[in-house]
Amino acid sequence: MKGVVLAGGLGTRLYPLTHVTNKHLLPVYNKPMIFYPIQTLVNAGITEILIVTSGPHVGDFLGVLKNGKDLGVTHLEYAYQEKPDGGIADALSLAEAFADGDSITVILGDNTTDADISQAARRFKDGAVVFLKKVPDPKRFGVPLFDPKNPKNIIKIEEKPKEPKSDYAVTGIYIYDNKVFEYVRKCDPNFAGRGELEITEVNNYYINEKKLRWEELNGYWSDAGTFDSLFKSSSYWATQKK
Ligand code: G1P
Repeated sequence: MKGVVLAGGLGTRLYPLTHVTNKHLLPVYNKPMIFYPIQTLVNAGITEILIVTSGPHVGDFLGVLKNGKDLGVTHLEYAYQEKPDGGIADALSLAEAFADGDSITVILGDNTTDADISQAARRFKDGAVVFLKKVPDPKRFGVPLFDPKNPKNIIKIEEKPKEPKSDYAVTGIYIYDNKVFEYVRKCDPNFAGRGELEITEVNNYYINEKKLRWEELNGYWSDAGTFDSLFKSSSYWATQKK
């Protein structure tokens, strides 16, 4: 199992902060945001990690992360996404050579959690696993529609639905087998109407193949891509001083 952290984009929702650096290097309490997803991977025993980034501040990552040794990373690679607004699935397409046939745990660089995903990563064999979390504002996220006859099955995932079919967010933590790259190639930029290749479309391909499983994330989870969620994340981690 290898790890991929997606840390591109322009971070427009955090302008003017992101005029000076990449969103994922902004502080969440006392650490750069990207330290948290890297730590989640390392804690799960995944120490070969690819960072996919884009936008005007890509050079800043090297200065902050260096070779990753201080965080317990044994092998750190970087990939450059040419279109910063290409979407999460477009960023993921750059991980194909790094994955080299292996399965991957993918975390969005603005997602912070104290959940332990090591068991899920160890047990993973094939298909995809998504991690869900109950949230008060599902409209902001990918939202699963459960099979009423068997809630262990997700019928589909909708990206930022106006009328969410459940109270759950699909968090930005995913485990994929190598088929993910085939599905990424099938993605349509009009899937969710924002001109991006969406990870939610990729997850729906796995659902259609009956190869998507889900687990509820135990513990704290939030994204940090808006002022409110960035503040919420910083406040949470400030209470967890170690
Ligand atoms: C992305 C995904 C969405 C997911 C969210 C988790 O949204 O598209 O499905 O629920 O991350 O953080 P975005 O941050 O691109 O709006």
